[in-house]
Amino acid sequence: MIKQTEYELRKISEGVFDRSTLMTLYDLSKKNLIRELKSIVATGKESNVYHGLLNREEIAVKIYLVETSDFKTMEKYLRGDRRFSSWKNHRHLIYNWAKKEFKNLSRLQSVVRCPKPIGVENNVLVMEFIGEDGIAAQRLKDSPPENPKRFFRKIKQYMKAMYKQGIIHGDLSEYNILNWGEPVIIDLSMGVLLDHPLAEELLRRDIRNVLNYFRKFGIEEDEEKVLDFVRKKC
Ligand SMILES: Nc1ncnc2c1ncn2[C@@H]1O[C@H](COP(=O)(O)OP(=O)(O)OP(=O)(O)O)[C@@H](O)[C@H]1O
Ligand SMILES: [Mg+2]
Repeated sequence: MIKQTEYELRKISEGVFDRSTLMTLYDLSKKNLIRELKSIVATGKESNVYHGLLNREEIAVKIYLVETSDFKTMEKYLRGDRRFSSWKNHRHLIYNWAKKEFKNLSRLQSVVRCPKPIGVENNVLVMEFIGEDGIAAQRLKDSPPENPKRFFRKIKQYMKAMYKQGIIHGDLSEYNILNWGEPVIIDLSMGVLLDHPLAEELLRRDIRNVLNYFRKFGIEEDEEKVLDFVRKKC
């Protein structure tokens, strides 16, 4: 069983990942958190996302790139976060970054539609795949909602629910919301706690991004009003 899994992983991963990432993938397969990597969904400067399988379940495997990531920005977000105290080097910083996304996804599971976290080890995060048969749901940027008002309302509720759970997304926009019939919030690695020094600034930026996107559909709402709505207790 393990041999077969290792073979399947090697088929896609050899020559693509560094040795340490390969070892992490093997480890995750031994813990039965990844069964097979099938295809690549997205490539970026900070991470690559793969479609994979875990038994019959489709999974998304996000691999944070140690070589090309923007360490300065990451440090800025990690420093004020009391969940993470220190890191020895750039590699260790990325491991914390992956763990941060895992923790944020776990904390938001019950209040927001976002991928279910399955496992995290070093720079590899395993989570629920949003999509079907290896085809990922599209980003809001590429797939405008059929009913923009409904989507906007839902996203506002999600911002409020995240705030109530003590988290600000920090990178919310049409790039990090998938359209799967309903909005699905992804890319929570930036997410900060409410007592983070950048919290207010990031919340305002999230609101502004969302308002800018929905303005195209004739939805006009005031930034301060949305901010009040998100922060209001009830
Ligand atoms: N759980 C998932 N299911 C399906 N597709 C996903 C999932 N997570 C991510 N994706 C796809 O991968 C792309 C990149 O993912 P994500 O936004 O999390 O990483 P990123 O933008 O590279 O992160 P960062 O902004 O930190 O560099 C998304 O736009 C989406 O298309
Ligand atoms: Mg993203």
